[in-house]
Amino acid sequence: MRHLMSPLDFTVDELNELFDLAANIEQTPETYKNICNGKILATCFYEPSTRTRLSFESAMLRMGGQCLGFSDAGSSSASKGESVADTIRTISCFADICAMRHHKEGAPMVAAYNSSIPVINAGDGGHQHPTQTLTDLLTIRSLKGRLSHFTVGLCGDLKFGRTVHSLIHALARYPGVSFVFISPEELRIPDYISESLRLSGIPFEEVIRLDDVIGRLDFLYMTRVQKERFFNEEDYVRLKDFYILDRKKMQNAQEDMLILHPLPRVNEISTEVDDDPRAAYFRQVQYGVYVRMALILTLLEVNPC
Ligand code: NCD
Repeated sequence: MRHLMSPLDFTVDELNELFDLAANIEQTPETYKNICNGKILATCFYEPSTRTRLSFESAMLRMGGQCLGFSDAGSSSASKGESVADTIRTISCFADICAMRHHKEGAPMVAAYNSSIPVINAGDGGHQHPTQTLTDLLTIRSLKGRLSHFTVGLCGDLKFGRTVHSLIHALARYPGVSFVFISPEELRIPDYISESLRLSGIPFEEVIRLDDVIGRLDFLYMTRVQKERFFNEEDYVRLKDFYILDRKKMQNAQEDMLILHPLPRVNEISTEVDDDPRAAYFRQVQYGVYVRMALILTLLEVNPC
């Protein structure tokens, strides 16, 4: 039985197979309509979510399966003091697969150790968010036709943004990828990530000003400042509008530079950019459903043929 804790849990070849399956689902959704009949997905979300939870549920429902779960720790027995280990032992009796989001880093891993069903990390604190990364990679592959030879800009809260951490680990495995990290000093990428890139000889630079680098990027991954992970309100208020991508800034970007964002957006991308053909963030949401359908089939070992 396999779980998904990090995008590195799949080899590059396995990811290719997963993306091929997702592409097939996109082209022929009818074929998959009843493939999960009788299967149940549990969504155990101890932290807020719109896209991740609902796209998992949509994925399962579109394949004929069913869903149960909770979207708020306060409505689960966590509020009575139940451990994640005991909760997943219980959920294992109710469902065939579980997607879990938790504010504590490593909580889905604890669940996986104690589970008799596959567990998917749907975001653990400021650590990892592997299924957003699968979504991001499928979007890039679908819109650019490849996952290699890119200059990738990541902008915003690189310290607490778990989607950023997972995406860097995943993209670092493809040839010819270099990174430009764009953040205020206080929200720089964690040392353990920059150190691992340095050790692997993967080129990266760290800058503060987006304007200085935007013209060199093949895609720009914007992120929200992660308010919920700040220790004080004052710092958040000072940093929240540090970057605002608007039409004027986009004039200096390449004609085919993609703009990605895991969403939700706050102020970091002006709505005037939404009509720009380079804005791919809402298309990303749709790819998130296909890739989660493919992931559920893969972890449940349901053969699409
Ligand atoms: C992200 C998350 O939860 O980390 N959202 C998502 O799942 N698409 C990004 C964010 O909340 O900023």
